[in-house]
Amino acid sequence: MSSPKVITPLALWQQKMTRRKVLCRGSEFALISAMSPGYLFAQQNNINVSLGFQAIPLSSADEVIVPNEYKAEILLKWGDSLFHGISELDATAISQGQLMLPQAAFEQAHQFGYNCDGIGLFEYDENEVIVCVNHEYPNPELLFPGYRAAQRAGIAGNFIRENPGCVDYMKATVGLSIAHFETGKNWSLKMNSPFNRRITANTPMLLSGPARGHEFFKNSSDIAGTQAIGTLWNCAAGTTPWGTFLTAEEGVDEYFGNRGAANFSEAVERVHNRFRPRRRESRFRWEFADERFNVALNPNEPFKFGWIVEVDPLDATKPIKKRTALGRFKHEGATTVLTRSGQLAVYMGDDEAFEYFYKFVTNGIFDLEHPERNVDLLDSGTLYVARFSDDGTGEWIPLVWQHDSILSPKNGFASQADVVLRCREAADLCEATPMDRPEDVAVHPSSKKVYLACTRNSDREGGEVESAGRIIETDATPSSPRVPNPWGHIIELSEREDDGASTSFEWEIFILAGDPKEGGLLSSLVSQVEEFNSDSTYFAGYRIPDDISAFGSPDNLTFDADGNLWITTDGDQPRGNNDGCFVCPTEGPERGAVRQFMSGPIGCEITGCEITPDGSSILLGVQHPGEGGTLEEPISNWPEGGNAAPRPSVVLVSPEDKLRKLSG
Ligand code: FEO
Ligand code: CA
Ligand code: CA
Ligand code: CA
Repeated sequence: MSSPKVITPLALWQQKMTRRKVLCRGSEFALISAMSPGYLFAQQNNINVSLGFQAIPLSSADEVIVPNEYKAEILLKWGDSLFHGISELDATAISQGQLMLPQAAFEQAHQFGYNCDGIGLFEYDENEVIVCVNHEYPNPELLFPGYRAAQRAGIAGNFIRENPGCVDYMKATVGLSIAHFETGKNWSLKMNSPFNRRITANTPMLLSGPARGHEFFKNSSDIAGTQAIGTLWNCAAGTTPWGTFLTAEEGVDEYFGNRGAANFSEAVERVHNRFRPRRRESRFRWEFADERFNVALNPNEPFKFGWIVEVDPLDATKPIKKRTALGRFKHEGATTVLTRSGQLAVYMGDDEAFEYFYKFVTNGIFDLEHPERNVDLLDSGTLYVARFSDDGTGEWIPLVWQHDSILSPKNGFASQADVVLRCREAADLCEATPMDRPEDVAVHPSSKKVYLACTRNSDREGGEVESAGRIIETDATPSSPRVPNPWGHIIELSEREDDGASTSFEWEIFILAGDPKEGGLLSSLVSQVEEFNSDSTYFAGYRIPDDISAFGSPDNLTFDADGNLWITTDGDQPRGNNDGCFVCPTEGPERGAVRQFMSGPIGCEITGCEITPDGSSILLGVQHPGEGGTLEEPISNWPEGGNAAPRPSVVLVSPEDKLRKLSG
């Protein structure tokens, strides 16, 4: 592999101190090795940072494990009723086809949904909280007996055509659940609360912002091009200071099939080529029961998905709006921060190999006194995409129509609506930096540094490859320094003047995930270039491998009030163990010393990662337990055990001693 040119944390530190450009290769090896950032901090500050718990051992058990002094309680399970008169899911009856019965979809549309991901918490009163939870996608092989056998026989489409109720059920599993809890002594669901609500693949919503009314949105049932039915593949999420929930539509291309049989116009083909519905059958085969998901028949329907969607959890009468100003791509999440002048900055990853990192900054200012003025703030502002330079600096490139000669009619962009609808193509033309699947983002509560999880990228193989409709260079770069990148990494980014509205930044690699005992633990990213391979790890310069929990595939991120970064994982782990939740300080002598806090059951990813407003607890999602198995051959029966089907759930983890904080 080619040798990566990587600016080290120390080099950046020196750069800041001396304001001189730093060369960061070979000859500085000795200096860097002897003076890791951790060493510097320890010498200068002598801070004794402690997370206050012993890391749990890696686990492959079919259970949730947390440190000894903590307890994990299930708050919401798939199929929990939100309303009186709606029965609970019976997880022991699923293998008999319970979910294929006619009333199952109606009940699911009034119960907690499936495959929980992003979580938002809204304090309603002193001891009451409204919990918003996203639901990403269904696992038909875990819902309907016979589905996987049909899939193996190549007739899953026939199975769905003959059992269209399965699609009705799956449509009710996705979207969002909103649930009202009392949080006094213990958390308890307020059944029948007027805030309890399900949003599904059938819920009407509006398209707003620059693309509203675009030709691509028009069809026979929406001649104005202003409406959408449902929200799909809701991944991580975000909240606004005005109390709304931002849900991110991610892998929506997987819901649409039959592209190979379509006869698109040139303009439609161009967009679908860069964000591709499935050529033959979609992942869940909905098109066999509902032609809305057949792009040969409905070429414009996918354009109504792939947006950030704003929901007011406290007011069901307010329309749900897809905010087109924030661009159309595989939105992982939407992490917000107020800029110095009071605008809202929204950080967003596009989770596909070699896609980009985006930021949106509102034109208007958040108005605490006049909430009605915030309602459509997300409809106008500037969308940017990140370009990471090799010297540890970077720029936010505006994706603004006719800002320069690139996003202009000469390249087929007739308006800002075209720019947001063809966001990936606009970013290609503006030479954004292709990343290793940019996922969730978290902003440090005091330093305002921005942390971006790049989950992993096995397609970064070196040389040119074809990816999502374009040829791309996949050699190592400083911001994606491993080829391939099996375990992912986390980037730390400092906006100029720590202001979310800035158009330039400095950045460094914070963590190269993996197993520090197996692949080698680097104390800097330049000191041991010859040993630097796809399994090499780097934990912000922390140098004691025994203190670090091996992990891979970072996905959702959040910060606690003390500046500890909480990380949940989705996917491959270096020792084949289950996904989990990990945490590390970002400052002080233990900066980068990642410890495992929670392990999930078999087959799941861990999501959510949302700390309660009082800082006492964390909500973690256990998404798709048992994925990899089937109803007939289960690999997980969590949480009920026995012969019950696995149930995705939100878990509340808190210290046993109620007087203790979550960490420290
Ligand atoms: Fe839905 Fe990128 O995780
Ligand atoms: Ca995710
Ligand atoms: Ca997953
Ligand atoms: Ca994921």
